Amino acid sequence: MAPFRDAIRHLAEKMQTCDEWLELSRDLGEPIFPGAAPEGLRMRWAEKSDLFAINALQGFVKETDFMEAALQKGDRCLLLDDPDGLRAFAWVTFRDFRLALWYTLTLDSGTCYLVYIYVHPALGGRGIGSFLLGSLMAAVRDQGGREMISGMYSDWEASLRMHLRMGFRIRRRLRQCRVLQIFPTPPKDMEI
Ligand SMILES: CC(C)(COP(=O)(O)OP(=O)(O)OC[C@H]1O[C@@H](n2cnc3c(N)ncnc32)[C@H](O)[C@@H]1OP(=O)(O)O)[C@@H](O)C(=O)NCCC(=O)NCCS
Repeated sequence: MAPFRDAIRHLAEKMQTCDEWLELSRDLGEPIFPGAAPEGLRMRWAEKSDLFAINALQGFVKETDFMEAALQKGDRCLLLDDPDGLRAFAWVTFRDFRLALWYTLTLDSGTCYLVYIYVHPALGGRGIGSFLLGSLMAAVRDQGGREMISGMYSDWEASLRMHLRMGFRIRRRLRQCRVLQIFPTPPKDMEI
């Protein structure tokens, strides 16, 4: 009986895919060094008129109306642009954030979640993402924020390196698998 059970288990393992989701946090009370401002780029808070361009860079995963409502509820988006348009942005929320069907991140007062950060690929690897993230952290801290949470799949190398460089620490690892590569199973906490 054991070989049969082992064969079934082996087959099930082969037919499942797993992703590892990392949750990181940054104590905003620790020193923040955004680095030098990139030449030729202007930094400012996003307004309603920027939302279409921001949405386009994300591949229109959300409704622009939904993003506008989020800004009205207190989300902030810091961006970098030049005369040719939007070059980078970082979006932060201060409200509980639903990450997946199974998982809503609860944010205490003073804690925020970095929803997304993006740098135009033509400008990647020049410290712009780190500068934008550091500037956002400093702005949130100056408005009373204590902690920033962020999250990413473990194979998003550029994002992970940028976060670690800017003082984030991994606080949780979640592993989610899909049986038959389709059906999700509830995520499991892993040892850090
Ligand atoms: C993640 C992202 C914002 C980084 O922006 P960036 O301006 O390239 O970042 P920086 O130049 O400040 O580099 C930060 C770190 O990432 C590394 N990095 C940058 N591009 C990289 C790449 N393509 N591959 C591997 N590492 C990379 C840098 O070497 C640096 O690490 P180091 O200090 O250990 O050398 C950008 O790559 C991006 O927009 N990616 C697509 C969207 C995304 O994944 N967003 C994050 C969602 S959580």
